[in-house]
Amino acid sequence: MSNENLQEVVKQKYGNAAKQVVAGGVATCGGGAESSCCDPITKDLYDTSQTSVLPKEAVAASLGCGNPTALAKLQPGETVLDLGSGGGIDVLLSAKRVGPSGKAYGLDMTDEMLALACENQKRAGVENVEFLKGTIENIPLPENSVDVIISNCVINLSCDKDRVLREAFRVLRPGGRFAISDVVVRGEVPADIRKSVELWVGCVAGALEEFEYRDKLFSSGFENIDIEPTRIYKVDEARDFLSAAGIDVDKVAPFIDGKFMSAFVRATKPFSRASVVGPSCHA
Ligand SMILES: C[S@@+](CC[C@H](N)C(=O)[O-])C[C@H]1O[C@@H](n2cnc3c(N)ncnc32)[C@H](O)[C@@H]1O
Repeated sequence: MSNENLQEVVKQKYGNAAKQVVAGGVATCGGGAESSCCDPITKDLYDTSQTSVLPKEAVAASLGCGNPTALAKLQPGETVLDLGSGGGIDVLLSAKRVGPSGKAYGLDMTDEMLALACENQKRAGVENVEFLKGTIENIPLPENSVDVIISNCVINLSCDKDRVLREAFRVLRPGGRFAISDVVVRGEVPADIRKSVELWVGCVAGALEEFEYRDKLFSSGFENIDIEPTRIYKVDEARDFLSAAGIDVDKVAPFIDGKFMSAFVRATKPFSRASVVGPSCHA
């Protein structure tokens, strides 16, 4: 499938997920479960002190695999950008954390998700929020304009992760933080099995191995790279989905168990390019 076609499939899947919420339901996408209340990837990511102050439709649209705003140490006055903001849950939480002197941008390519996020912004009554239409491979913001980039289970969906990371680096201010949640693979997993588990995790996915994530961040110019597991998945959690896909789960279990995780991926943009390549040679 070409990159353009794959992006269309992703748009369609998340467009449908947004429609489920508009119809009064809960967004679903992966094969984990029918409702995000029981899905091992999306369930219990936020505590009630966070969800109780949000519109219920923003919570119902949550399709992330982590809680980046809880881990990103956002400060009043900062500008935050959420890559693939979906129904807006992390944008609304960021807006509260950065306060009226700060700003939270959400970027998404799916019209239905953007419409839902804008409705959720109105319901929440927050003004320091702006939702932008576009792709994370081509961020519609100027360079050096953002303090913190967050994202929740989106970068694994991109066909061009190098470009996403280069774009993130470009729009961050020197010293800016990249602080995202994503699905990461630890160790080698045969390609066909990997594909099935990725479909279980997130519709259409291409999770990076831990070392690839580090390499790509480093090549994009980032420093202080850290990948911290927040949830490690057990084969039994994907058993029903994999069996339905015709996979002999007991046979493949050793290749899967504990190898797929949700992780908090952190890095910073150096204050100067020099700090990436090491100390200068001037006497
Ligand atoms: C798994 S959902 C996560 C939504 C949100 N971050 C959350 O935690 O609920 C993925 C979202 O990313 C958007 N998305 C996926 N690929 C994208 C891309 N290349 N550019 C922009 N948005 C993208 C989808 O439209 C969808 O809203």
